[in-house]
Amino acid sequence: MTTELVQLDISGHIATITLNRPEKLNALNGEMLARLDAIAGELDRNREVRVVLLTGAGRAFCVGADIFEWSSLSPLEMGRRWIRDGHRIFARYARLPQPLIAVLNGYTFGGGLELALAADLRLAAAGVQLAFPEVKLGIIPGWGGTQRLPALIGTSRAKQMIFTGARIDATVAEDWGLVNEVVDAGALMERARALAEAIAANGPVAVQLTKQLIDGGEMASLEALAGSLASYTEDAQEGVAAFRERRTPRFGGR
Ligand code: COA
Repeated sequence: MTTELVQLDISGHIATITLNRPEKLNALNGEMLARLDAIAGELDRNREVRVVLLTGAGRAFCVGADIFEWSSLSPLEMGRRWIRDGHRIFARYARLPQPLIAVLNGYTFGGGLELALAADLRLAAAGVQLAFPEVKLGIIPGWGGTQRLPALIGTSRAKQMIFTGARIDATVAEDWGLVNEVVDAGALMERARALAEAIAANGPVAVQLTKQLIDGGEMASLEALAGSLASYTEDAQEGVAAFRERRTPRFGGR
């Protein structure tokens, strides 16, 4: 068993990422962020993996950013590095080509909840508590929470969670649309794998295109879709042939 702080296991078409710092309830430190960054790059290039599961070892999914680490940073380091790195890395997860399912096995707080919000779906074990406790520490959710939470559950409920810092239970989270399903703790991974298998059995390109369409509007996604289509037209073949033969192309609009 590897002792990496973030583990990646690939089995068939399903990848499982495990936050593996259980003695600190998987609080995210710089080393974990760097490893998450590298794993995102690996998955982005992997054509075999069709669904990604993201979970935590021990009794927490993730209790957020490592308080001791960020509190030792200067304001400039905090802004330039910590906040921006987290944003960039979480955005990589949100934009993974494959569906990403956050499997919330325990406490899901702060940056942990922000990471879960970057996923496409969230499953939670019964009894799991979710919260944005940042204001209780005199700080703010800085890794996308103020944008992704209201987009998912509406501004009113998002403000309630963020202004109070109060914990909500998995069943309330399900009621609010913050988690897709609540499952008995003992059956959580089994249910997550079954859901992943069901998705992985479908046409992978079609599934990935639907993800891009639902998340919509992003220039890179639109250009990717249009670019793939255009490159397969007879016009594109004619354009390339004309370039190679140093002649004027004769486009047919097909
Ligand atoms: N950053 C760094 N370390 C953290 C942490 C965090 N966000 N959250 C928990 N830990 C550490 C604790 O310091 C403790 O380490 P220690 O055993 O070396 O003292 C260990 O994880 C276990 O936490 P502990 O508080 O003893 O467990 P608990 O069951 O009594 O309480 C929580 C669990 C989640 C309620 C409590 O740890 C907590 O409130 N954590 C902070 C959550 C938070 O504010 N997140 C937002 C961060 S910006």
